[in-house]
Amino acid sequence: MTQVKIVEVGLRDGLQNEQMTLSTKMKVEIAQGLIRAGVTELEVTSFVHPQWVPQLADAQDLARALPAEPDVRYRALVPNRKGLERALETPVDEYAIFLSASETHNRKNINKTLEETYPVLKEVVELARSRGKKVRGYVSTVFGCPYEGEVPVRQTAAICERLFEMGVYEVSLGDTIGVATPHQVKAVLRILTQHFPPEQLAGHFHDTRGTALVNTYVCLEAGVTTLDSAFGGLGGCPYAPGASGNLATEDLVYMLEGMGIRTGIDLDALCQVSLQVQERLGKRLPSKVLQSREAI
Ligand code: HMG
Ligand code: MG
Repeated sequence: MTQVKIVEVGLRDGLQNEQMTLSTKMKVEIAQGLIRAGVTELEVTSFVHPQWVPQLADAQDLARALPAEPDVRYRALVPNRKGLERALETPVDEYAIFLSASETHNRKNINKTLEETYPVLKEVVELARSRGKKVRGYVSTVFGCPYEGEVPVRQTAAICERLFEMGVYEVSLGDTIGVATPHQVKAVLRILTQHFPPEQLAGHFHDTRGTALVNTYVCLEAGVTTLDSAFGGLGGCPYAPGASGNLATEDLVYMLEGMGIRTGIDLDALCQVSLQVQERLGKRLPSKVLQSREAI
């Protein structure tokens, strides 16, 4: 394996969980810094209800202020038709719909049962595709739910099936609260890859218990080569108690480059971005690689 696609979700998953709301200008500067560092896939915001996630209330302004770069794709979360209408008024390249493998988290996060969610998402995917937009699907709480505990893999498989039927090109498997362990990831992927090609799956790990990096390694072994991460290790879901940072992009890049896999991302430049954000937020960001550089 020589190629891994890194989807940088820090501006969305990272900032949605911070108490401090960064200005649109600062977010644009972060995006520019990430692009200079070589990041090409950026999930930048969510067109969710501004009261549910006030940190991302500037979604339209931000999307319109981002620099147009030929090799960069901007992505955003879209929960429903209203969100889609807002997104379509901006130049965002690609959308992501999301739901949970567990009923309770789904309800807490998007205020609907799973059965109520499907038609909403189906409409988003159909309309988005009719406007030439690719749509990714996210399934949260695949490896454990903060409210329900263990989540049977057959629930995830059934949801993936529904999402692919709707027309998403890929499903990102979310370890929303960072409980997954490598053997569990291996077992889940063994079952899912019997039904779906690994090229259409992605890994989205939160690092709450320090297992995110090793879980991505298990993904690579299973042929899942699209991985989500956030600069500095920012991240978390406001509607999942106990959720903490995503796998840090710095840590992922360090591991991949050490395995001889070129990422196209310059670690020094990436760390510069995280250091700036760390200073702005007034707290240390959890990336191990970032911390090791600070210590030198
Ligand atoms: P709702 O209150 O059920 O919405 O929220 P509604 O459809 O009943 O509408 C109520 C009002 O909200 C209406 O306005 C709508 O127009 C308005 P009114 O007619 O009363 O004036 N409205 C909107 N306004 C702006 N943008 C919208 C929108 N939708 C409705 N999109 C909703 C439902 C889904 C909107 C809400 O629950 C929500 O915004 N939830 C988002 C929660 C969220 O962002 N969670 C974090 C992201 S998921 C995550 O982090 C996990 C992930 O990282 C993977 C992993 O780690 O596992 C992806
Ligand atoms: Mg997440």
